[in-house]
Amino acid sequence: MTTGSLLAADLVIAVLAAAGFLGGGAASAARRRPLALGLAVFALLATLARAVTITALARAGWWFAAEKVLIAGPLSLAAVAVAGPRLPRAPGDIRSVAVALLFAGYAQSSALLVTLLHGYPASAGVGLLALAGVLAATALSWLALGARPSRTVSRVGLGMAAAALVTGTGLVVAPAAAPGVPHDHGYGDARTIGEPTRRFTLTAATATVRAGGRDVAAWAFNAQVPGPELTATVGDVIEVTLRNRDIARGVTLHWHGYDVPNSQDGVPGVTQSAVRPGQEFVYRFRADQVGTYWYHTHSASDVGVRMGLYGVLVVRQAPVTGVDVTVPVHTLAGVALPEPRTEPVEAGVPVRLRLVNTDSTTHRYALAGTPFRVAAIDGSDLRGPTPLVDTALLIPAGGRYDLVFTAPATPVALFVDGRAVHSTGPVSATTAAWPVLDPLTYGASSAAPWSRFDRRFTLVLDRGLDLHGLLPRYAHTVNGAADPDIPPQVVRLGEAVTFTIVNRSQTMHPWHLHGHHVLVLSRNGRPATGSPLWWDSFDVRPGDVWEVAFRADNPGVWANHCHNLAHAEAGMILHLMYS
Ligand code: C2O
Ligand code: CU
Repeated sequence: MTTGSLLAADLVIAVLAAAGFLGGGAASAARRRPLALGLAVFALLATLARAVTITALARAGWWFAAEKVLIAGPLSLAAVAVAGPRLPRAPGDIRSVAVALLFAGYAQSSALLVTLLHGYPASAGVGLLALAGVLAATALSWLALGARPSRTVSRVGLGMAAAALVTGTGLVVAPAAAPGVPHDHGYGDARTIGEPTRRFTLTAATATVRAGGRDVAAWAFNAQVPGPELTATVGDVIEVTLRNRDIARGVTLHWHGYDVPNSQDGVPGVTQSAVRPGQEFVYRFRADQVGTYWYHTHSASDVGVRMGLYGVLVVRQAPVTGVDVTVPVHTLAGVALPEPRTEPVEAGVPVRLRLVNTDSTTHRYALAGTPFRVAAIDGSDLRGPTPLVDTALLIPAGGRYDLVFTAPATPVALFVDGRAVHSTGPVSATTAAWPVLDPLTYGASSAAPWSRFDRRFTLVLDRGLDLHGLLPRYAHTVNGAADPDIPPQVVRLGEAVTFTIVNRSQTMHPWHLHGHHVLVLSRNGRPATGSPLWWDSFDVRPGDVWEVAFRADNPGVWANHCHNLAHAEAGMILHLMYS
């Protein structure tokens, strides 16, 4: 069982245990004896089953189990201790066990709320709040049901609840807010880079574009979705003038995967202000990385990118020989882009397909009709890629794969999520059952560039209640906090840095660090054994633990976030800073 399914199973069992005890309590209060006993026994068994799931989660990593061991564990023990012994000798009046069962139900429910609303790291404050809830609810039930040991005991219960509430709230609220991220500090002066040799102008505006045979309202660069493909040769100095005609939420350009000087990174509120309607901003950087990249707005990025403010950036080593096409996949108003296209290619011609996933979720790609190699991922060439046949590729949000092959005499087709997107002729293939490439074991390894690390970070991804903004929200969190309260990762220039990313949530988080490429060290404890992978985007599945590393060689303040852009806007973004 994977850690992801273990997390899900544990959650389901916890819900069943809580519901069983609460239902049993209600049934006994209503004097429905068989039902009450049945539910209570069921809940006891579910509670025992959790001992197994929690132990397994703790073995997979303390991050997955901390609050379950420290808070749910004691509360479950108390639930079993109070409810268990009363059942076999449930006296004539089943109503007398109602409060015990309800107590057990409250204990299970509040532990469940700790997991759902807070998660990792467990803290004494949260534990006390959970306890306060249980005691208060029990005392109130006691009073409401008019059961015997009432007054004094309920008063003591309520008193303890109040004390736990006050202490817990104090502990939870006390932690200081994260140090602020400095703005507009001017790291990396673009003017020193040299005279531009490639100039572009991108004008952002609302537009109506054709997609899937109908007119679709979009936000577009130069009235097209995707925006124009920007190309350069390595060594060029690229200059892009961004204009905003009428995008009220503002626009910027972020060069996804391109490790530009910080001042050119296009993150509003961090490296520049958003470009408002009528304004412009000029970006300039040297094209010193070869490969497939893309650009997109980072202002209101979720809606902005979804509406069409993105395009491809390709930097080549030499002029194109053979066929070289980019396939930026995107979902625009429910229409899958690009539209299917058929173009014959002469046999023997070298072909390079540059696959780009500009959506917020993973896509599945399959190339049918020819063996192929994955030449590069996220712009970095792979070492010793071997030919693949009938193998699917999962590309994370923001990720790019370059596939190369020699055109055969027979047709070839690229499928995205089972839909033929690009072909040289008719191909009928059922790609759904193909195995998926694991890049961590693909290609030839080479010695790691570091033998020791100067700094380590851990990012635990989850969901949780965020009360720090104007309105409470159910945020996507890192180490229990949401943007802007997540402490920045502070590094020194030149350091070798590693960070561990743990996903204890129920959703995929495609991770993306700006300004640096990370080297994948391991996933779920298994070291990467294939070609070195220098990535800027990678999918951290539920239950995954990734270890990645980078060299702190690009000073500035850099966003480090989930590239499911809705998650990023719902809190899952922190910053990497140089001291
Ligand atoms: Cu492509 Cu900060 O994102
Ligand atoms: Cu995410």
